[in-house]
Amino acid sequence: MFVSGPRIKKFFSFYKPYRLLFIADITCAFIVMVISLFLPLFVRYITNSVISGSFSDVLGELILPAALIMLCLILIETAAALFYDYRGHQMGAMIERDMRDELFSHYQKLPFSFFDREKTGSLMSRLINDLLNLAELYHHGPEDLIIYGLRFMGALMVLTRINAGLTLAVLAFLPLMLGYSLLFQNKIRAAYKRYHEKIGDLGASLEDSLAGIRVVKSFAAEDMEEEKFRRVNEDFYRTRADIYRQEAYYFTGLEHFFGPLIMAAVVLCGGIWLSKSALDTGDFIAFLLYVNYLTAPIPQIARVIQQYQDGIAGFNRFMDILDHPPEPDRGLAALPEVKGRIEFADVSFRYNEGRDYVLEGISFSVNPGQTAALVGPSGIGKTTLCSLISRFYELSSGAIRLDGIDIRELPLKTLRRNIGVVQQDLYLFAGTVIDNIRYGRPGAAEADVIKAAKKANAHEFIMRLPGGYYSDLGPRGLSLSGGQRQRLGIARVFLKDPPVLIFDEATSALDQKSERLVHEALMELAKNRTTFIIAHRLSTVKNANRIFTLTERGLEEKDSFEGIS
Ligand SMILES: Nc1ncnc2c1ncn2[C@@H]1O[C@H](COP(=O)(O)OP(=O)(O)O)[C@@H](O)[C@H]1O
Ligand SMILES: [Mg+2]
Repeated sequence: MFVSGPRIKKFFSFYKPYRLLFIADITCAFIVMVISLFLPLFVRYITNSVISGSFSDVLGELILPAALIMLCLILIETAAALFYDYRGHQMGAMIERDMRDELFSHYQKLPFSFFDREKTGSLMSRLINDLLNLAELYHHGPEDLIIYGLRFMGALMVLTRINAGLTLAVLAFLPLMLGYSLLFQNKIRAAYKRYHEKIGDLGASLEDSLAGIRVVKSFAAEDMEEEKFRRVNEDFYRTRADIYRQEAYYFTGLEHFFGPLIMAAVVLCGGIWLSKSALDTGDFIAFLLYVNYLTAPIPQIARVIQQYQDGIAGFNRFMDILDHPPEPDRGLAALPEVKGRIEFADVSFRYNEGRDYVLEGISFSVNPGQTAALVGPSGIGKTTLCSLISRFYELSSGAIRLDGIDIRELPLKTLRRNIGVVQQDLYLFAGTVIDNIRYGRPGAAEADVIKAAKKANAHEFIMRLPGGYYSDLGPRGLSLSGGQRQRLGIARVFLKDPPVLIFDEATSALDQKSERLVHEALMELAKNRTTFIIAHRLSTVKNANRIFTLTERGLEEKDSFEGIS
């Protein structure tokens, strides 16, 4: 796995706000490492001193002071371990929070074309799961390196000084142990991944069968469903069994094979040297206590290697999105009062280079307050044309002007604040009715919201909801009909009060009665504003002053609706 230069810089930049905490964290990790390395040395010292008989009052002069010092060291070690375990993890979580904020705010700045390509689920997973791995890396990466790496080096040094021969005997086993750990940790990780996939499959299969139970019964297809489910369930069982198998091999291998094997090797060599008086008893005991220090970091080092791989993969995915350029927004022109004249000058547009042009050489203008109907076959580019006014996509060539100013010279926010869009599939956010209407003008007074709702023909149905304006529309909240949603959307735009409006098939999916209510509201909204109406039904566009038809040949203006179906 590879990270490029600027990305490495970016990676470390996330530590910046927590520099002091980071230093404290690393220092504590260091203290823990050093103390834990020192403790067995006491044992060696005490044993060797007692055996050589160099103290007259062993208890008073040796054991008690040593015990006191050990107690102090243990207390310090505990405090330091507590600090890095708690504050270190906290730092990781804070960095994760910062990265998540940065990624989310970048999502907000990315253009429509980005969201056309990417799946919502994958964008969510990047923000949630990838960053979880990263927080672990940010905290554990440097710290684990210190703790396990230095502890290993320290133990190696101490052991070599105690007895180089015994150390070599142990070292011979370590590459094997590292390879074994890496192999099985990889297998376990892969097994868990399959397991999580299978949980998803199991859930999906179950949901499908249960949701379709009426169809199942009416086709007497229970046996088939059972067979289908049995297969998914069997697959699921297998992934679990695989996890147990790999974990059993891994842990048994480490604990019951490598551990005792190394111990046996040390006892064998040590025993031989002891019997030849080539080794002190204290050294031998200290060595046995220390062997652990040399072998224990091996699986941990394997884990750190994996953590780096996961974390770096996650970081690269994170940076891939951050490197994606945001919507161009360099406009500076000020527009004190927008009148609403819209002008297209030889506009051409295609969604992607290499694809066909959706619009070519479109020129027209609409004066402030006019209502322009835009008709044409489905898929010809009506929605596309209107989305260009809000600058949701960049033109391939030509220009669009608002009150004579090229919309590229306006700040995006200024431009979009002046355009209200009502679409067929209106999106409502989780929250209350009033919050959803207020989306048009955050902070609007309740009285203004109600006024807007009244104009949008929405007040009456809102008042009939169980909680009125404060009814919850969340995922588990109440659901509204298409016409009701549409009128909430219109109320939103009333509150926003923009000089330019776009109704994109706003009434297409409605039944006649709601269509009438929505239509009335739209006509009220359109008064004194420049309005574009895209609609199938002539009834919706009959009030228009201007009629444009979009065809393969381009845009044509008509004087009447004659000949338009
Ligand atoms: N986001 C998009 N990315 C790529 N192509 C698109 C996108 N939206 C629409 N198109 C294509 O552009 C053409 C015009 O679509 P659209 O403007 O939605 O037509 P209309 O609104 O007139 O039915 C269609 O061929 C459609 O497939
Ligand atoms: Mg459309």
